[in-house]
Amino acid sequence: MIRRLDFAPLDGITKRVFRRVWHQRFGGADRYFVPFISPTDQHIITPRDRRELENPEGLPQVPQVMAKRAADALWAAEALADMGYTEVNLNLGCPSGTVTAKGKGSGLLADPDFLDRFLDEVFSGVSVPVSVKTRLGYRVPEEFPRLLEVFNRYPIACLTVHPRVRPEKYRGAVHMDLFAQALAESRNPVCYNGDLTSVPGVRALEDRFPALDAAMIGRGAIADPALLRRLRGGPPASREELQSFTRELYRAYQDFYAQAAPDAQAAPASQRMKEVWFYLIHLFEDGERLGGRMRRSRGPRAYEALERQIFEELNLLDAPRGELV
Ligand SMILES: Cc1cc2nc3c(=O)[nH]c(=O)nc-3n(C[C@H](O)[C@H](O)[C@H](O)COP(=O)(O)O)c2cc1C
Repeated sequence: MIRRLDFAPLDGITKRVFRRVWHQRFGGADRYFVPFISPTDQHIITPRDRRELENPEGLPQVPQVMAKRAADALWAAEALADMGYTEVNLNLGCPSGTVTAKGKGSGLLADPDFLDRFLDEVFSGVSVPVSVKTRLGYRVPEEFPRLLEVFNRYPIACLTVHPRVRPEKYRGAVHMDLFAQALAESRNPVCYNGDLTSVPGVRALEDRFPALDAAMIGRGAIADPALLRRLRGGPPASREELQSFTRELYRAYQDFYAQAAPDAQAAPASQRMKEVWFYLIHLFEDGERLGGRMRRSRGPRAYEALERQIFEELNLLDAPRGELV
């Protein structure tokens, strides 16, 4: 049975403001993964990263590090431990071309021997538990058994597997046969990640893998903010609740940007909201028309008008249809 539910990191979306408001309004996540920081060889946490990582509300958070050099990952892990974090996650999954060109993210999966040396250096020096978020491989799924051999050499706190390879990004069918292998053969605890968007979908995963005890959910928990609460037996989101959530989130982003960049108050806040609506619109019947207009809209006034129109005109579905992109 799945006992632990992790909220996946989505860079640009599940930021500190989002995590706080979502947690207060809906909740149901045991842990929130903070989108990656990518330390440079100067070994400084930038003010922007620090703002993201500070956690006065005390949310159960796991920060994530993306690095190619073990020395940089080690430095970041220790800096995060100094900030009070008790686990640090390594990003071995990011498929973005600009990231993999530098050998980071899923770029680290391209050469299993290099990955082995990288993990060896990290695990022999680190003082805080380290977990890993990975894909099945850099090019093809058949790379996974060799990668799993490498992972099995280290005491990874949890191996979160997104069962796709880099060129598949976040689309297309997941390779469940290889996830089954991960679960059966990993010496470390395993967490499943990918395309969980509904209560029946999670129940089907549990039926297929009774030994699985953790799942990580990202887009599905933005598309239906009450998904994790429902998985715990709670109610679905009502229209009023969603409207009050999006309004509070917008206000919270406005306040955040007013402090961080006083000149540009409303525009970045509406931009952030449009990224949330990219997923959330799937919770509304025939949402695509207004969702498309919202994506193409510019500026805070257009955003605010479309948000009003969505709540005035569209009916809520019981659950999103599972469309993620
Ligand atoms: C816009 C976007 C940003 C993401 N940022 C990160 C990130 O910072 N770190 C990470 O490990 N994964 C990142 N991911 C991947 C998600 O954490 C997750 O693995 C992916 O969305 C699949 O899970 P889901 O189907 O439950 O959303 C990102 C995905 C998207 C779509």
